[in-house]
Amino acid sequence: MRTRQEHPGDLALLCCLLLLPPLLSHGAGIPLGSTLSPGNSASWSSPNNTFSLSFTPSPTSPSLFVAAITYAGGIPVWSAGAGAAIDSRGSLRLTSNGDLQLVTGSGAVLWSSNTGGQGVAAAAVQESGNLVLKSSTAILWQSFDHPTDTVVMSQNFTSGMNLTSGPYVFAVDTSSGNLTLRWTSGSNTVTYFNKGYNTTATGSKTLSSPTLTMQTNGLVFLTDGQLASPVVVAYSSNYGESGDMMRFLRLDADGNFRAYSAARGSGAATEQWSAVADQCQVFGYCGNMGVCSYNGTSPVCGCPSRNFELSNPSNPREGCKRKVDLQNCPGNSTMLQLDNTQFLTYPPEAITETFFVGITACRLNCLAGGSCVASTALSDGSGLCFLKISNFVSAYQSPALPSTSFVKVCFPGIPNPPPSPSR
Ligand SMILES: *[C@@H]1O[C@H](CO)[C@@H](O)[C@H](O)[C@H]1NC(C)=O
Ligand SMILES: *[C@@H]1O[C@H](CO)[C@@H](O)[C@H](O)[C@H]1NC(C)=O
Ligand SMILES: *[C@@H]1O[C@H](CO)[C@@H](O)[C@H](O)[C@H]1NC(C)=O
Ligand SMILES: *[C@@H]1O[C@H](CO)[C@@H](O)[C@H](O)[C@H]1NC(C)=O
Ligand SMILES: *[C@@H]1O[C@H](CO)[C@@H](O)[C@H](O)[C@H]1NC(C)=O
Ligand SMILES: *[C@@H]1O[C@H](CO)[C@@H](O)[C@H](O)[C@H]1NC(C)=O
Ligand SMILES: *[C@@H]1O[C@H](CO)[C@@H](O)[C@H](O)[C@H]1NC(C)=O
Repeated sequence: MRTRQEHPGDLALLCCLLLLPPLLSHGAGIPLGSTLSPGNSASWSSPNNTFSLSFTPSPTSPSLFVAAITYAGGIPVWSAGAGAAIDSRGSLRLTSNGDLQLVTGSGAVLWSSNTGGQGVAAAAVQESGNLVLKSSTAILWQSFDHPTDTVVMSQNFTSGMNLTSGPYVFAVDTSSGNLTLRWTSGSNTVTYFNKGYNTTATGSKTLSSPTLTMQTNGLVFLTDGQLASPVVVAYSSNYGESGDMMRFLRLDADGNFRAYSAARGSGAATEQWSAVADQCQVFGYCGNMGVCSYNGTSPVCGCPSRNFELSNPSNPREGCKRKVDLQNCPGNSTMLQLDNTQFLTYPPEAITETFFVGITACRLNCLAGGSCVASTALSDGSGLCFLKISNFVSAYQSPALPSTSFVKVCFPGIPNPPPSPSR
């Protein structure tokens, strides 16, 4: 009754089923006029069924569906329209004039490859995981050029492309080849990670089109016409190990960029490297006014003081809200002190709102500043004070941080209870 793929007997059965002649001729590809829909369980598969394109329930709203390419076992690596979700009556169709369209049940085109009338004769999912739209002689469009949040082996991730996940964006900087991570919301953009790997190789050069790739052996390479040889950006911790597995890079929903490996059929990916070593340094990880700290090993989200409450108690990552808004206590606000706490400050804010003042002035200048909501005195010997005037702030608390921060609240400030070991 249960289908357990890890059972050797079942595996043998699975293998032989896969050798049966497929319903669609893979060699000829998927012909014009073909349609996939959530209702039927059909898929478009690569020749050896390593990757397939089909509808899967949307991770954010399970009654809706996403057209996704998944690796054998179920790990998604791409989706049409970056996760655009349709209802059960919708479809993904390759029109008679060669456009690939994601269509809702009411007929609205939610996403399209914009290849109509360009000579597309068929589609195919390749063994690499690349969905291609091709004429008889050339590839006219490929999913590898339009990544969502994942880069697989043999995929070129080039400067100018973005990976996105919620408010987070990953890109490779065109001139330096630096890996960059940004948080964006409306017109606010914060670059919380910007790192060059082996700047002895890249530092003196202006690159033209740096490209990031995941090698089959687990090395992450940066290549560019200006570089004599590839620069190693990261070593997967299991690098050099071989086997029937997929390796990939992904911008995760928590704003970190990681390398993974996954054995065929397992459906489970194992982290092999992460760009941001300290998760609490990811801007916005705990939402607006949220405070990131560690409970031993895992990052956890809380609020600055009892003047705040979680915006969504069932998801602390959604941040905190004031119990009394600042505009409801004009002239009667106070700066509550938060020890060993930093309000994360990255470019561009790091440049405009940084001052060399002592800890008392760091507190008082924010109290006096109408738009200032919080401040951080680094207390690391630099004499630096950051004033937070943004309407979105993100905090980090750790006994290892020398910084002292202040948050503006309506009088009186009510500190959090000290962590009690008995609870
Ligand atoms: C499919 O698998 C067979 C057997 O492992 C292999 O010989 C063949 O090269 C594979 N085809 C592709 C396109 O990878
Ligand atoms: C990736 O880049 C290499 C080198 O430029 C190229 O040979 C290869 O065809 C590219 N792969 C894809 C899938 O575009
Ligand atoms: C990538 O993001 C940047 C800024 O967020 C934007 O200007 C650019 O158009 C995006 N590129 C693509 C290919 O979406
Ligand atoms: C690239 O990253 C290095 C740190 O690794 C930094 O010093 C440099 O300023 C960055 N370059 C750009 C153009 O952002
Ligand atoms: C950095 O790049 C240079 C030139 O390609 C290379 O000789 C050196 O070994 C690299 N260093 C590291 C740590 O990868
Ligand atoms: C820390 O938090 C994680 C995630 O919420 C939880 O799974 C884990 O049990 C917690 N560990 C401790 C020691 O409280
Ligand atoms: C400030 O607010 C507190 C508590 O609401 C109140 O007791 C106090 O009188 C207020 N002070 C001023 C100067 O308004």
